[in-house]
Amino acid sequence: MSAKTVSFLQMKDGTQADYLLLDRSERDFARGLPDRILETLHRLDHSLEGYRVSRLEHSLQTATRAEADGADEEMIVAALIHDVGDELAPYNHAEIAAGILRPYVRPEVTWVVAQHSLFQSYYYVHHLGGDRNARDRFKGHRWFAVCADFCERWDQASFDPGYPTKPLGHFEPLVRRIFGRDAHDPRYVKAVAE
Ligand SMILES: [Fe+2]
Ligand SMILES: [Fe+2]
Repeated sequence: MSAKTVSFLQMKDGTQADYLLLDRSERDFARGLPDRILETLHRLDHSLEGYRVSRLEHSLQTATRAEADGADEEMIVAALIHDVGDELAPYNHAEIAAGILRPYVRPEVTWVVAQHSLFQSYYYVHHLGGDRNARDRFKGHRWFAVCADFCERWDQASFDPGYPTKPLGHFEPLVRRIFGRDAHDPRYVKAVAE
């Protein structure tokens, strides 16, 4: 990394050269995203109080099940990182993973991850006095069934310490492929109405 720094103390005083310098350093930093995603997943390897698997095992198992079901690479990587926001956003964690994915995958995948916690609540929230059918507000949405399947087949099913879950290394090339893409590449991120 260059030792050069910008000339300004307030952004409004920055020059074009300053912003070209920052643009370069941001691009360099973005190239490290796959490594940071893998490190973040690795850090989830402590047990989640009360569950029988760690957050990392749950994430890996969700991705393993997605892969075993023949899901495409974007959906497998979504399954892998869908809960990475748990630690910093315990009440809206789905938004974190959706935000990380959005520049790199098709809108369907981002939407499924963004809504997964609502759809996942179908499996437990009635035990706590909540409305398990709250997801029905999206009835008729073109991706309703995809999200319902994501939760039914992969997410809610992935708390089993006996399942043959693949290790993080198995998914590493996939993480590098998806998050090594140029952000907002129109070949992958098509602007479609939700
Ligand atoms: Fe979740
Ligand atoms: Fe989950």
